[in-house]
Amino acid sequence: MAWYPPEVVDEVRLRSDIVDVIGSYVKLRRAGSNFLGLCPFHSEKSPSFNVNPSLQLYKCFGCGVGGDVFTFIREYENFSFTEAVEFLAERSGMTISAGEMNEEQRKRESLRNQILEINKKTATYYYALLKSEYGRTGYEYLKNRGLSDSTMVHFGLGFARSGGVEMYKYLKHEGYSDEVLKETGLFKMEEREIRDKFRNRVMFPIMDVSNHVIGFGGRVMGDAKPKYLNSPETKVFDKGRNLYGLNYAKKGKKDAFLLCEGYMDVIAMHQAGFTNAVASLGTAFTENQANIIKRYVEQVLLLYDSDEAGKKAALRAIPILRKAGINGRVVSLAPYKDPDEFIKAEGKEAFEERLSGAVNGFFFEISVLKSGFDLSDPPQRTKFIHETAKKLLVFRDKVERDSYLEAVAAEHGIIKADLKDLVIRYGNSYTEGYQESRETYAERKTREEKQKKGIDYSYRLFLSWLIASPGLYSFIKEDVSAEDFLDETYRKAAGLLFGQLEKGELVPARIIDQFEEVESQSLVAGMFQTEFETKMSPEEREKAFTELVYKIKEYSIERRMRGLTDLNKLQELVKEKKKWQNPGNLHISLKDGERYT
Ligand code: GTP
Ligand code: MN
Repeated sequence: MAWYPPEVVDEVRLRSDIVDVIGSYVKLRRAGSNFLGLCPFHSEKSPSFNVNPSLQLYKCFGCGVGGDVFTFIREYENFSFTEAVEFLAERSGMTISAGEMNEEQRKRESLRNQILEINKKTATYYYALLKSEYGRTGYEYLKNRGLSDSTMVHFGLGFARSGGVEMYKYLKHEGYSDEVLKETGLFKMEEREIRDKFRNRVMFPIMDVSNHVIGFGGRVMGDAKPKYLNSPETKVFDKGRNLYGLNYAKKGKKDAFLLCEGYMDVIAMHQAGFTNAVASLGTAFTENQANIIKRYVEQVLLLYDSDEAGKKAALRAIPILRKAGINGRVVSLAPYKDPDEFIKAEGKEAFEERLSGAVNGFFFEISVLKSGFDLSDPPQRTKFIHETAKKLLVFRDKVERDSYLEAVAAEHGIIKADLKDLVIRYGNSYTEGYQESRETYAERKTREEKQKKGIDYSYRLFLSWLIASPGLYSFIKEDVSAEDFLDETYRKAAGLLFGQLEKGELVPARIIDQFEEVESQSLVAGMFQTEFETKMSPEEREKAFTELVYKIKEYSIERRMRGLTDLNKLQELVKEKKKWQNPGNLHISLKDGERYT
């Protein structure tokens, strides 16, 4: 595995001007001191993709992606970091050679990378088997299920033979230790012997957004149990943070994702041209998955199985999507079981039609609720209406709530005024509870999330401001440290930034490269390029920056106080907090601060 020392990476970055590199992919025009273009990572008509030549960073204010020149190449070309370094070195006519890692680096890098490497080799091996004489049954199984050769290649499908030692022998031969092999989840201990986990199955490699193989699913070709066997979670496979098919769906530039349950559903949909399909793969849909989806689209069509379990799964997913700010709608596939069977039976035009008939998630919830009551029975009907009123309270925005109220009343023959009265009644009892500070768990959660959003924004403003005016660092360095940032990514980014400023240098792109995942790189790029009001008088700016510091300190101390039982420590923190509630404690002179920039 090639590894390039930081000096080499720095040199490549220096010779790869971000405007020049991105400009060869995206049409950029100058806008003030920056450059603007149409974002290549989501579809848009007016440009919100911003390239900043002085920071050597980019940021899309539409979809939120961002990073440095390496991030861009990784995302656009689907390269690993190392490949991006090599690509850009070649582009600028440099010859670079890989260095040797020291012991510590090797340890840190090696397990994760070795697992990824093993997964890739395994996928390639399985794929070769599928195409060989040994994999005939697997190949025919997939053919029978309607998959074309090119679909099998596209998804890297493969075949595992029944022997139970083949992969182990192959990977041992490739030089991997048992210790590492055990970490891959591809093997299990059987009678004190290590044996292959997947046997006599067609294999589905699971890829992350950057096309690394992070795990596998294997399906039996008949009716044996279990039908699917999946890799366990490993150092590289976090089930709640991945979606099958996302590596392709994210490039689709559609405004909605199609969310389904299984591998075969995703594959069948992609083959039929619906390349925005992803699956949550058997596990319950998570908040993390919703937040990942939110990076790409704000609409999701749910295509869960038409059975009772699928309906339940949809009911669970809708509020999770809503919370992430995604509008979820439900597609009925009846009388077919799942998207795969629907497409096979009815074809893609009929499928397209079903998609356009998707039902709003809230209406879906209400209709499921309704099916639990016998509406010809007055007490049950009353109960249904009361429950509906309570449900309407999920809409905090009055205008939105009223429009749902109206639609639901009309749909289910409820008198609008009655429903409205109930909503107000239930709404009041919740608000009263809040005023008496008897907050429900859900309400506390919402309030804390709001606060966190606010503090995240303060962090971003603070870091961006500091980068724009590094001279400010000298005023805050005694008081603010990385530990004041209560989120891991922010903490790490702040720490690295302070480290640079301490040495009197400022290369934000180098900080970005310290984060492995492009998602984190996007986040950090956002922290460094948050727009703030610059048209303020020095006095106003001074005040605004000072307030920012106070807010960060106060929040940091408040959080440290929480759950503290040591009285002395608590008193100390109370005193410290007081200090930060008293303006005039921090003396920042912006004019001086900015003079250093
Ligand atoms: P096909 O029968 O191949 O069309 O599969 P399906 O996608 O219709 O399967 P189903 O709806 O039964 O399951 C949906 C997803 O749940 C699958 O893609 C798997 O990821 C997962 N799954 C299904 N069966 C099993 C099982 O027996 N064990 C485990 N661990 N996961 C399963
Ligand atoms: Mn199926």
